[in-house]
Amino acid sequence: MPADTPAVAFDPALGLAVLHTPNSTYAVRIGADGSPRHLHWGPALDAASLTDPRSPADSSFEDEAAADELAPQTGARFGPAGLRVRFADGTVGAQWHFDGHGIDDGELRLRLVDRRYPLAADLCYRVRPGSDVIERWTELTHTGETGHIVIDRLDSASWTAPPLSDYRLSHLVGGWFSEFQLQRDRLPVAETVLTSRRGITGHHASPWLALDDGTATEEHGEVWSTALAWSGSWRITVHRNPVGRATWTGGFGHEGLSWNLRPGETLQTPVFAGLYTPDGFGGASRAWHAHVRSQVLPEPDRDQPVLYNSWEATGFDVDTAGQLRLAELAARLGVELFVLDDGWFGARTDDRAGLGDWTPRPAAFPEGLRPLADEVHRLGMAFGLWVEPEMVNADSDLFRAHPDWAVHTPTRDATELRNQLVLNLARPEVEAWVHRTLDRLVAENDVDWLKWDANRPFTEAGWPGHPDPDRLWIDHTRAVHRIMDRLRTDHPGLRIEACAGGGGRVDLAILARTDQAWTSDNTDPVDRISIQHGFSQLFPAQAMAAWVTDSPNGITGRTTPLRFRFHVAMAGALGLGGDLTHWTPEELTEAAELVARYKEIRPLVQHGEQHRLTGAGGTTAVHYAAADGTEHALLAWRPATRFGHQPAPLRLPALDDQARYRDLDTGEEYGGALLRHRGIELRLPVGDHASRLIRLRRLG
Ligand code: GLA
Repeated sequence: MPADTPAVAFDPALGLAVLHTPNSTYAVRIGADGSPRHLHWGPALDAASLTDPRSPADSSFEDEAAADELAPQTGARFGPAGLRVRFADGTVGAQWHFDGHGIDDGELRLRLVDRRYPLAADLCYRVRPGSDVIERWTELTHTGETGHIVIDRLDSASWTAPPLSDYRLSHLVGGWFSEFQLQRDRLPVAETVLTSRRGITGHHASPWLALDDGTATEEHGEVWSTALAWSGSWRITVHRNPVGRATWTGGFGHEGLSWNLRPGETLQTPVFAGLYTPDGFGGASRAWHAHVRSQVLPEPDRDQPVLYNSWEATGFDVDTAGQLRLAELAARLGVELFVLDDGWFGARTDDRAGLGDWTPRPAAFPEGLRPLADEVHRLGMAFGLWVEPEMVNADSDLFRAHPDWAVHTPTRDATELRNQLVLNLARPEVEAWVHRTLDRLVAENDVDWLKWDANRPFTEAGWPGHPDPDRLWIDHTRAVHRIMDRLRTDHPGLRIEACAGGGGRVDLAILARTDQAWTSDNTDPVDRISIQHGFSQLFPAQAMAAWVTDSPNGITGRTTPLRFRFHVAMAGALGLGGDLTHWTPEELTEAAELVARYKEIRPLVQHGEQHRLTGAGGTTAVHYAAADGTEHALLAWRPATRFGHQPAPLRLPALDDQARYRDLDTGEEYGGALLRHRGIELRLPVGDHASRLIRLRRLG
């Protein structure tokens, strides 16, 4: 594209909108019925090649081939609707008249108004300098003065892949202990629904997907991928129709919810971001990582500290003396942040009581948290605290005082999960209370870090007395975002770690106000390899909390060497979570060495470019390269040995053929072409759970 091509343009004569990113073009044309129709999303094209006057919308018998930018539930459309509305007289669906466009600073708005009813929609698009990600959302407005309009569905955007010979869907599935498992299947000729009905993003599905024609690999091939920036319930419906088109429409809320749009009100959806890349799944991930770092994370340039968290060591059995013992040991290992986990407040001696009562438990912390916080600071570490502010135990002073604050339906039995209920943060007084409580906790205890947990989904989700109870599915999530934003603004320097019973709430919206996410309660390094592989499809390593814990692992019972546990956790934001009081002096020495080694490679892991590598016989690796290509760190793991064979050399596609590289540990020198095309010898130790860190520096 010529350098002076505008990123966003609209030609009123043709009704043609074109968005250019550095490596892709996206085009939309206003159809004959006033609805914006998809024209192109893929390699860069100039506007002239998009001006064929016959858009697909004009030529089809049914509209099967003419994909909408947001299908409005009218006309010859029989696929999933992106917008479903009901007017007071029973009329269903919108019929649009195109009312013009607006362009402002990389943002395009296509303005649609209903032909008969007081409803307007802005379909919004944004491109950012240097990024191939296109951000899309919808703003729906009741332009009348009376009555409400029922919204049964309001998606952020619908996406369309070009006609391909076949379609394959990549997405993430999982559960508690098994988050972010990458699933890659042929897309059926059907409607495939990916969804969370839980009020949180969910462990079992993530609002990210990728489509390719079935031939893309890690380093080659076209990939279209999208990610929804929302931390509550969501739904994405992928529709492969019999005539060979694949479209998908998605947004907040699951099926069956409805919202009343009041006169003058605008409902704004979350962003649904899309990315086209021709460089395989790895290329797509690197582009997403760059986007998350430049546009999403609040402080991407700050290093994530090496943290210690006491949960796996002490469970609920916390007190000042015990935590101080751990803090002293952690400080000696080079830990930079000490996090006190669950059990410090109210009557919280197990998970049956105390949630909601955010004052230190007198038996455990007779003088409050301040002595521990001060000592942790004196030891040179930051002080972090676990909270679960959206939740309440029925056995708590908070619930006894405010039973109505819990999400509930009076005529239904309330399901308790982990003995707890969800607070309805959609209620302004509950949002205000949560904010006040956290604000005070942070200020009074000099808290540098909050681990913000959310250990259960919503059930029996009513809001007694409220005329529009389904609002809570949106407004609760917005309140969570708002509180996090306010805390960050009011306490500069405060960092927040997202957590939801492991990795149950990781998405582009939560990462816009947190620094990292707890990836999984499963810290077994063998299981972590696949969990981290899935996480890395969308999110960068700096946002991926990864701990070294005890062996045998508390969840899987698997025994693994300390070095292997470290090498797996060093691929993300390193933390320690074991009971250090039981580590031998040799283990403590080795841990201190590995923490120091991590700090050396941290700039590469947290701020470099990631390449996922697959070797033979179950060996995998991640390669982190500095943006300028000078420094490289490679972490290779082989969970189980096969036949005693050494793995084949591992090819390093991120290197430069023309350059030479030195192994910083062995001093050996290699030509880049050799390492790229033949590979590097991994020389893993014998046996299961073998791993190695290789550091390379480009010479000259
Ligand atoms: C969740 C988190 C854990 C820990 C516990 C505390 O399960 O994922 O890391 O904080 O809660 O109860």
